Amino acid sequence: MGDIVANENSFYSNAEVYWKEAPPTVDGMLGGYGSISSIDINGSKAFLLKYLGEGEGKTSAGCALDCGAGIGRITKRLLLPLFKSVDLVDVTQEFLDKAKTYLGEDNKRVGNYFCCGLQDFVPESGRYDVIWIQWVIGHLTDSHLVAFLQRCKKALRPNGLIVIKDNVSYEGVVPDEVDSSVCRDLDIVRSLVTRAGLRIVHEEQQINLPKEIYQVHTLALR
Ligand SMILES: C[S@@+](CC[C@H](N)C(=O)[O-])C[C@H]1O[C@@H](n2cnc3c(N)ncnc32)[C@H](O)[C@@H]1O
Repeated sequence: MGDIVANENSFYSNAEVYWKEAPPTVDGMLGGYGSISSIDINGSKAFLLKYLGEGEGKTSAGCALDCGAGIGRITKRLLLPLFKSVDLVDVTQEFLDKAKTYLGEDNKRVGNYFCCGLQDFVPESGRYDVIWIQWVIGHLTDSHLVAFLQRCKKALRPNGLIVIKDNVSYEGVVPDEVDSSVCRDLDIVRSLVTRAGLRIVHEEQQINLPKEIYQVHTLALR
């Protein structure tokens, strides 16, 4: 990407301003498309359940990390029901504050709320069975995304899994001035994953989404 982000500092600070002003609701997390949340979560659950379990090559259901977690939409409905504990990381403190009430009683099984940009965040080595990264990679430059994925790789437990679920463009890199992000095509995402030294073990397109929005793809990485 490099060249498309003319000024890295304003790329990040403009995104922070945008999210500070966004409502701390499911609709706010999904840019007004709160109605697709259940379709998204159900698709993610079916995807993740292929990997979780006991035995050879299976991913344990110990601790998960929700990256760009926002108010904890995914933590609440996907991760906490499946994992013993979940950590959240997001750059917007207001969303993490909201998560504490939004998650209700299950908030007790949240290990940590980290307020940090993923470009700076260093997940603890060997801590996580699953690192879930959804609708946030467009907020990182190419080199920051690659470096973050490398740190995530180190943070996995044996048989751990990194999952990226995000919008993909039809071709190339499409900037979004409104929230200061970019949308990459699938080949670009795949090449950044490979640059990080990760292998794509499974790839799926989320079905049943409205026609007018970007395609959404889920990639399982090891
Ligand atoms: C589109 S919302 C998605 C939230 C959540 N992943 C979901 O699907 O419900 C994007 C989230 O990314 C966060 N975010 C934006 N830039 C970030 C960055 N550089 N590092 C960490 N989080 C960031 C925002 O605060 C917001 O919570």
